[in-house]
Amino acid sequence: MQRRPLIVGNWKMNGLIEIAQDLADGICAGLAEREGRLHCEVVVCPSFTALNSVNRRLGRSSLKMGAQTMSHHEPGAHTGEICGFMLRNVGCRFVILGHSERREDQGETDDLVAKKVVAAFRDGLTPILCVGEKLDQRKAGSALSVVEAQLMAALPHLPESPNKRGQLVVAYEPVWAIGTGETATTEQIQEIHGALRQVLVRELGEIAANRVRILYGGSMKPSNASEILAMPDVDGGLIGGAALTASDFLAIIDAALHQE
Ligand code: PGA
Repeated sequence: MQRRPLIVGNWKMNGLIEIAQDLADGICAGLAEREGRLHCEVVVCPSFTALNSVNRRLGRSSLKMGAQTMSHHEPGAHTGEICGFMLRNVGCRFVILGHSERREDQGETDDLVAKKVVAAFRDGLTPILCVGEKLDQRKAGSALSVVEAQLMAALPHLPESPNKRGQLVVAYEPVWAIGTGETATTEQIQEIHGALRQVLVRELGEIAANRVRILYGGSMKPSNASEILAMPDVDGGLIGGAALTASDFLAIIDAALHQE
């Protein structure tokens, strides 16, 4: 099954409004130059404070926007929280959930992340569910069981319809490779992605599982994007540092366009 590659920029807690707008403008201009051969989907995830301004810059661009987290609650008395309904209202189509930085800094558990995945579907957003092992877990040989458990926490709660389920996006991000300059080897990546696909087939059925895109994230950059994206179960990338420069981000998009 041909899955449409997905390249997502995670801008994390970076960028005042003007900087975010400039970055969005640069990416939109680059995508416009590639029109006609842009068979991949491209998403940027600015901080909450820049969402509205970036949305206004998207115009007719194929660039889509996502958020970096959301509350699982429906609108109401939840001070400081932002729900999916609000994110849709400001132009988001995607939402990153369970990023390791949120699991670490905010203590997000598998249970909470699963609730957020359910809420994203409810609110009409495409969830990008992040999983990934820490260095000590990899060294102990438990990388596979860790990521499978993280994925399994969410899968039983997905909507019934294979169409909907197939919209789930999973991002494998080994924690030790995030922002460190260290990348997992292509063998390590394919091993985990292949195993995640098996879990998806077992739990969601063949049709939905073969639609789910599994992204790799962790120090992905122009120099290593091609070989990572060439792996059979890698359907795109979740990019942090290299997504903060339009030229680097576009170079990764080019690597995705040159696959096949
Ligand atoms: P990085 O971040 O590309 O800077 O390693 C990836 C991520 O955290 O999504």
